[in-house]
Amino acid sequence: MALMSAMPQELSCILERLDAKPLQLGSRTYWQAQWMGQSVVAVLSRIGKVAAATTTASLIEHFGATQVVFSGVAGSLDQRVQVGDVVIATELLQHDMDASPLFPRYEIPLTNKSCFLTDQSLSLELKRAASQCLQEVRANMQLHGLWDQLGVQAKDICLHEGLILSGDQFISSAKISSELKLNQPSALAVEMECAAVAQVCDDFGVPFAAVRIISDNANDSAHMDFEKFIQTVAAPYGAHVIETFVKNRSIT
Ligand code: ADE
Repeated sequence: MALMSAMPQELSCILERLDAKPLQLGSRTYWQAQWMGQSVVAVLSRIGKVAAATTTASLIEHFGATQVVFSGVAGSLDQRVQVGDVVIATELLQHDMDASPLFPRYEIPLTNKSCFLTDQSLSLELKRAASQCLQEVRANMQLHGLWDQLGVQAKDICLHEGLILSGDQFISSAKISSELKLNQPSALAVEMECAAVAQVCDDFGVPFAAVRIISDNANDSAHMDFEKFIQTVAAPYGAHVIETFVKNRSIT
């Protein structure tokens, strides 16, 4: 199983929990380990669709990954999705793909597809792990403290499932996020990698699932507290979801 994240803080929190050996390939370090009886390879994709796509291809071709799971942060595109909430992707779309008039807007040329679906059973496992962690956070005062510091009520955090958009742009303007929402009304969140990972996994027939913690509202204040939120909340929380996901596998 392959584990991917885009930001160094997110991957570090995962690596801290396993005793992994590094293997350098190109400009990526792939960390291989046995984690609670599961063979895993964890890697920092870096940010953006190309970085995520090439990393995914290496995971599959070089490391023989048969499942890929991505964890990271995203900006919200829906009023019901708040900072601190968790979104499990059911489908992914590249919001910056536009080969019109040769192909319909958003369609990935020569695939007949705009959206890539995530794997249902892998996503269900991820959802179970995320929901277990959510209950723990609600019950754990120490973790509450972190959330509260950032003005997020831990008791209010929710789990969502749905469409996530990806593109090579950090969305930090209310105008752009409203346009994205207007064009894709069912979109819950926006980030910069997973639709590309999903496309590569689809090319190779490899199951893919993704979990994103909402770090901002993809508007004019998106940059505020972004680093702090990742460091103190999203990275440890995301790693906890992944650890719970792996642990659940090892006991079933
Ligand atoms: N990842 C986290 N927040 C994001 C945003 N606002 N835009 C794109 N990617 C993100």
